[in-house]
Amino acid sequence: MTSSYKPIIVAIDGYSSCGKSTIAKSLAKFAGYTYVDTGAMYRATALYAIRNGWLHQDGINSQALQEHIHEINICFQPCPEGQGQNTYLNGENVEQEIRTLEVANGASKVSSLGFVRQEMVRQQQQMGEKKGIVMDGRDIGTVVFPQAELKLFLTASAEVRARRRYLELQAKGEDCNFNDVLSNVMERDYRDTHRTESPLRKADDAIEIDNSNLTPEKQDEIVKQLFLQKVL
Ligand code: DC
Repeated sequence: MTSSYKPIIVAIDGYSSCGKSTIAKSLAKFAGYTYVDTGAMYRATALYAIRNGWLHQDGINSQALQEHIHEINICFQPCPEGQGQNTYLNGENVEQEIRTLEVANGASKVSSLGFVRQEMVRQQQQMGEKKGIVMDGRDIGTVVFPQAELKLFLTASAEVRARRRYLELQAKGEDCNFNDVLSNVMERDYRDTHRTESPLRKADDAIEIDNSNLTPEKQDEIVKQLFLQKVL
């Protein structure tokens, strides 16, 4: 897709289950920009480690992963059906496989390793070389693109995020308990904000949007206005 707007970098960071990818995809579509889901890159790295037997419930063979880290190449392609995009790991479409709970837990582990972050950040910076990109994650405005022209930091209360996640799981027919979902959201927040390597934090120049009480439509409108103020 080509854009009629001047190409800038939009960095969207925030807590898990905050709706980052929804807003990032919507803005990328509006702007005619490329969308990059950096969480999918950590998930694909975890999948690579699982498949090679280096990552399992009891731990991780970080030495083996480090030796092979440069063999991991991740890219994105639009879905042929025109809805969203697929994640490719060394040329293979792994979009479905990286969305499982096992891979999500693995991604949380590999994303705390410095050498993994270094390689992912290198690939992400390459993807943004020509700008015209909307990238979401935890460290985009602070580490990957500290020079991004527009930085957003999304928040919502833990209860609101847990409620959204709970309804999503129920809609998928999964048996779950609200208090367990809430504990999981709070645990992930703690891990994301307390890890040594690139902990989640708001960049000083990021605009914070608390969407606890915003409809998706209202949030979309706010974000598009902020974008237009930068590009027009
Ligand atoms: O957003 P997500 O659930 O797909 O992210 C998967 C994992 O990767 C999660 O544990 C957070 C981590 N992550 C990260 O550390 N840095 C990023 N830029 C994106 C995701």
